[in-house]
Formats: sequence, structure tokens, C-alpha cells
Amino acid sequence: MSAQEKKTQLESQLSPVVQQAIKLSQTATEGRSFRPLPSSSSFSLIDSDADVKAQWGHLGLEAISQGKVGVILMAGGQGTRLGSSMPKGCYNIGLPSNKSLFQIQAEKLVKVQQLANEKFGTTDARVQWYVMTSKPTRDNTENFFKENGYFGLSKDQIVFFNQGTLPCFDKAGKQILLESKDAIAESPDGNGGLYKAIYTNGLLEDFAARGIEHIHMYCVDNVLVRVADPVFIGFSIENKFELATKVVRKRDASESVGLIVLDEALQRPAVIEYSEISKELSEQKDNSGLLSFRAANIVNHYYSVELLNKRITTWIDNQEFLPFHIAYKKIPCLNEEGVFYKPTEPNGIKLEQFIFDVFKDIPLDKFGCLEVERSDEFSPLKNASGAKNDTPETSVANYLKLGTKWVKDQGATLEDGDLVEVSSLTSYAGEGLESVKGEKLSNLQII
Ligand code: UD1
Repeated sequence: MSAQEKKTQLESQLSPVVQQAIKLSQTATEGRSFRPLPSSSSFSLIDSDADVKAQWGHLGLEAISQGKVGVILMAGGQGTRLGSSMPKGCYNIGLPSNKSLFQIQAEKLVKVQQLANEKFGTTDARVQWYVMTSKPTRDNTENFFKENGYFGLSKDQIVFFNQGTLPCFDKAGKQILLESKDAIAESPDGNGGLYKAIYTNGLLEDFAARGIEHIHMYCVDNVLVRVADPVFIGFSIENKFELATKVVRKRDASESVGLIVLDEALQRPAVIEYSEISKELSEQKDNSGLLSFRAANIVNHYYSVELLNKRITTWIDNQEFLPFHIAYKKIPCLNEEGVFYKPTEPNGIKLEQFIFDVFKDIPLDKFGCLEVERSDEFSPLKNASGAKNDTPETSVANYLKLGTKWVKDQGATLEDGDLVEVSSLTSYAGEGLESVKGEKLSNLQII
């Protein structure tokens, strides 16, 4: 079938889906009422006792030492806002060490395995790492891992799998865009495509074969992410949550983050995405003058494997759980004269499923929300240099600031304004830095 015939066929199949998605994205919050999650579902690491944190960390490391933890990394997005031609995880953000996001995250895994072994006297703690890519990111990602010797992990510990793709439409949602005369323009089906990808790639069988019971799922773009975070996993295990999520306090009303809320009618957790929230709702304040809705989604989710086994086919098969949303994006394609161009402004629509739309399937007592400190755990890379927020520069600055805080807490000294880089291989979350006590460290030193 020619690309033109395929285009016509897909247009007639998908047109109703696109129109429905356009409508949903314009009316997602209409007729619904929201409240912050009740305190019974909301916890905060910031206010928790050191004992409680230690207990959660213990449980999480124990599960890691027993090989019961798997990590899913979502790296299928095309990073159009960053403007890089390579997948985001390969990007050199500009740290003194020149490490990529993939390397930082891989080394966190190496480190957390080591911590689990030390604590539980094991030698084979292992976190299986499932890396979700998509057609546009797969080859570059896999090659990058290979060229870098899997960053100290064993090759068979990393499983690459692809999410699906969907055709891209023009802004009216009527015509499919062509990438060339012979091919339609396609894009990944959104991070909610994860569930179908887990199922169709046989990951549930893989979890079972390896005895994996707990999944930490996160996004590639966060330089501060605590991969396989023992505290978060322990928090979920202790409370017997089927699904849990981490949040930070929203920076201001306009920050581009989803908000974790309670859907009042359903009495279930929900996320209002930043692209779909009204100005009024995003700016609403409570009695204490804080934003009423300020629990910002940082895309760190916990799933029990039992939940995935029980519900994943229902989620995949049911539009109610995973409807399509739209995103206006810059899509390279043929223009009306049939000439290929790379637009500088959004010129079309991508269809996307949202990973958190299934949250409404989870009863409140099985859902946990854990607030964490932004400066400890969240600094996403979304935009190219020069933008106001979430750039390579802010990622580097926040990474260095955190490491510098850790070494200062241990009694190292630095000139005012100097910063150091603490490697993930040296410290997972500030521990293991006793040797810097009393040391004078130099600017941009790598520890
Ligand atoms: C996402 C969240 C938003 C959150 C914000 C925090 C969703 C739907 N939105 O928004 O609520 O506050 O991050 O940074 O979760 N990805 C894929 N496949 C895709 C699309 C994306 O794997 O088809 C991956 C990307 O590689 C990235 C992550 O998902 O790792 C987030 O994607 P992105 O489109 O950047 O999300 P945001 O719009 O920033």
C-alpha cells in the first residue's frame, strides 16, 4: 500500500479518535470537582521522623537485595522542546564529568545494589532495568549503552523495549502529515503507551520469571532522580500500596507540571495535566495563601507487580482508562508544496496517552502520595539553553548544589560560591561521604 493510500485509510479510521482527543483536551476538567488528596493518602518525607525514613529505606534495600525490584525508565519521548537530535538520556548536560543522564542513572543503580549488598550481606543484589524507547529513539539509545559498556551494569540486566507509535495530524486534526512521499509522520503514543508496551513485550512474564514484585517507574529527564529509591519502595511496601507517586511542591501557578488531586465524585486519585488545567484552577489559593493544588507530579511512580498483573489488560482495552489527549508540537513533515521542512512553531497534533490516567482505578487506601524535597529529587531537563527554567544549566546547577550540600554537611569546606560534583558511584543520597570531613575542596572537583 502506498503512503498516500495508508494515509487515507488511517485518516478515516483515526479521525473520530482525534476529534474526541481534541475535545477531551479542551474539556478535561469541565464538570469535575477536585480537592487535594486527603491526609490519609498524603505523606511527606520532609516532615517524617528519621526513624520512619530509615525503616522505609531498610525495607526497600531488603527488597533490592532479594532481587524483587525492577525499574522502568521512560525514554521514548522525542525531546522536541530540548531541540537535540539524540535521545535526551544521551545528552551531555555539561557537568564537570561530562556524564549523560543515562550514565548518572545507571550509576545510581550500581550504587544502590552495592548499598543493598552491604546492608544485607549479599553479593548478588540486582535491579533489572527496563528501558522504554520508541522507534525514533531505540537505535541511538541502545548503541549509546553499548558504546559505553552499559555504564558498569551487566548487559543482561538491561532490557530495551519499544512503545507504539501513532500518525501525526495537522492542527485541525483532519489530515495526517507525511514525512516523505513514502512515509507518514509518526510519533510515540505518549507515556501512557507504557502499559501496552509492558504487555505486548512480555514484561509481565519477565517479572514473574525473575521474582520481581515491585516496580519503580520514572522519566529520563530528571537529573536528580533516585533510581530504585529504597525509601520510596519501602514506603509503598510498608503501607501495602498498589500504586504510589512522589510529588514536590509546585513552584508557582504557571509551572508546567501535572497536579495530583482527588476526584471528588469518584473519590479516587487523579492528575490534572498542565496542558489541560484552567488558569483559575491553577491559581486558586487556600486559606493559608498557598496554591490549593500544589502537589506537582514528578513522574516517579511505584507499582506492585500484583496490580499490573491484575489490571493491565483492563487498562489497555478500555478507552475510559487510557483515552487519547493531544499535544501541539513541531512536527517535521512535507509542506503543502510537498517539500520537507522543520517547523519552528507547532504545526500539528500528536496523540498521547497519559500514564497517570489509570490512577482512577486505584482505591484511595491503596494509593500513596509521598512529598519530597524538590532540591533533593527534582530538576527536569525540558528546554534548550536560554529558556527560563528546566534547561541543561539548571540541571547542572541543581545537581552540583545538592552534592555540595552533602559534602558540607559532612564537614568539608569550600570557598564561597564553589561547587563540587558528587558522582552517583560515590554516594546515592548523601551517604558514604565521611572521608571529606575537614577537607578543603576545590571548585568543580569531582568526588
Ligand atoms: C510530564 C508529566 C507531568 C509532570 C512532568 C514533570 C505526563 C503525561 N506528564 O510532563 O504531569 O508534571 O512530566 O516533569 O506524565 N515519554 C515517553 N514516551 C512518550 C512521551 C514521553 O517515554 O511517548 C517520556 C519522555 O521520554 C520523558 C517523560 O515521558 O521521560 C515525560 O515526557 P514529557 O513529554 O517531557 O512530559 P511533560 O510534558 O514534561
